[in-house]
Amino acid sequence: MSPVGTLEGMADPQEVLSRRVQSALGAAFGPEFADTDPVIRPSQFADYQANAALALAKRLGRKPREVSAAIMEHLDVSDVCRDVEVSGPGFINLTLREDWIADQARGLLDDDRLGVPLQRPLNIPLDYSAPNVAKEMHVGHLRTTVVGDSLARTLEFLGHNVIRQNHIGDWGTPFGMLIEHLLEVGEASPEADLLTTDPNAFYQAARNRFEASGEGPDDFAARARRRVVRLQSGDEETLRLWRELVGLSKVYFNKVYTKLGVTLTDDDLAGESTYNAMLGDVCEELESKGIAEISDGALCVFLEGFTGREDKPLPLIVRKSDGGYGYATTDLATVRYRVNDLKADRILYVVGAPQAMHFKMVWATARKAGWLPEDVETTHVQIGNVLGSDGKILRTRSGAPLRLMQLLDEAVERAAAVVAENRPDLDAESRAEIARKVGIGAVKYADLSVSHDTEYVFDFDRMLALTGNTGPYLQYAQARIRSIFRKGGVDPTRIDGRITVSEGAERDLALKLLGFGPVVEQVGELLQPHRLSTYLFDLAQTLTTFYEHCPVLTAQSDAERESRLALVAVALRVLVQGLDMLGVEAPEHM
Ligand code: ARG
Repeated sequence: MSPVGTLEGMADPQEVLSRRVQSALGAAFGPEFADTDPVIRPSQFADYQANAALALAKRLGRKPREVSAAIMEHLDVSDVCRDVEVSGPGFINLTLREDWIADQARGLLDDDRLGVPLQRPLNIPLDYSAPNVAKEMHVGHLRTTVVGDSLARTLEFLGHNVIRQNHIGDWGTPFGMLIEHLLEVGEASPEADLLTTDPNAFYQAARNRFEASGEGPDDFAARARRRVVRLQSGDEETLRLWRELVGLSKVYFNKVYTKLGVTLTDDDLAGESTYNAMLGDVCEELESKGIAEISDGALCVFLEGFTGREDKPLPLIVRKSDGGYGYATTDLATVRYRVNDLKADRILYVVGAPQAMHFKMVWATARKAGWLPEDVETTHVQIGNVLGSDGKILRTRSGAPLRLMQLLDEAVERAAAVVAENRPDLDAESRAEIARKVGIGAVKYADLSVSHDTEYVFDFDRMLALTGNTGPYLQYAQARIRSIFRKGGVDPTRIDGRITVSEGAERDLALKLLGFGPVVEQVGELLQPHRLSTYLFDLAQTLTTFYEHCPVLTAQSDAERESRLALVAVALRVLVQGLDMLGVEAPEHM
């Protein structure tokens, strides 16, 4: 393995240039300037531009162009840049050397990590997916699942210890009604089995039963209420029935997870019920520390800066007046548990944007209680709504919530139609496999290609298109490289050629490849998978231009062919690795 492009992230030109300019700053103006940010940015006039002189001019009381000239005198980049010049009011334009770019790209070929640095490992509890028992997973859950899973994959690749926490809704008053309904229909009945295929239908049936119930002491509603009390007091038979319900729901969740290819397993389940035993303690501690107080019979936390209508203080209710605990209490317990038991350095919650206020209040309370130390960062990765073509939350035509399974099946069916048309030469089994990868990949990529906190319109035609910023377009980009290797009879994993960069399109491609490490780092820091999607889309477009100008198999000379094969071999690995971080599979053929 070559040291290039590994641990130090040296394949990143921006990083290399930053360090060089920094040391010039130190040499020109003294050591106290050696850690000034040189503000290196990609530029349309050169590969990069250093913009430090403008800010420094003020600090030094000199003209920006003079400052630039002083930097230039000490700047040693002859091995990296072929052109360095001062432009405009004092920018320094930096143009990289072709042989430097080629060497760095060659370094990627030998680097398992493709230029992605290995970071100091942090413990990162990652709360995502979190559907509710005996309810349909809706497209909102689809998005928290897909975005969360991509973050898990990316942070793991960066070297972190990601602890997946699937905070399923498996507790609360509806369980009285659900358990009574389960008893009525029979645990082994087809109605009970609905929980594993169409949980919403089961939920609706229980709900209807509840609403149509009389108010007599032996009627359904009264039984359901008594059942809640028995559940909360730990009655063994009631708990058994509750476990049965949760178990059947898990079957459904796992079907969806398997179909989606997400990395969640039963070991990652840490639902609301997990925290039951801690809730009394949470409340007591808040009360004894004087953070919570009784208001209208409920135990509440009032925090500075949180007000509702007419500037009335907004309470975070931690124990209701009937003694019951709610969503907020459980989430306070998650913070305490994740810090104390999971030894969290950084805690992430991938949850719908409407819950932003809830998390702010929970964390502020936890900080006040001393459960969340200053140096542990909590982040709400806010998930925006998925809309239908009418601009409203996605539903079926009849207005019912959409069944996630159905949606995924439809994506695969539509993909199958496209594959059947484009690849009649493949056998049925291969076509089905491609259709599955393309259909599911398209749905996931649509979630990941837009910023996670914005709304987007769910549109099968657009997400399955072979052009534009779509999953299938990127899958095709990598399949096309594979077909070049197949045609040339070359194994892409056994490429060992020298890379030379002479054509502009070769240079663009090589430089683009060097951008992979930095973008993955950025995703880990900013928690925005769409930055990776944008990068991969750019890369795929760069490849298209590359093919137009630079034939690979029919290159002019053996050396040129070797070099181009090496470049596309790196591109293939970057595309496959990048798609994998998004949780999108990369089919061999398309
Ligand atoms: N089950 C909740 C819902 O469907 C999401 C839970 C998110 N996680 C958390 N720790 N609150 O909205």
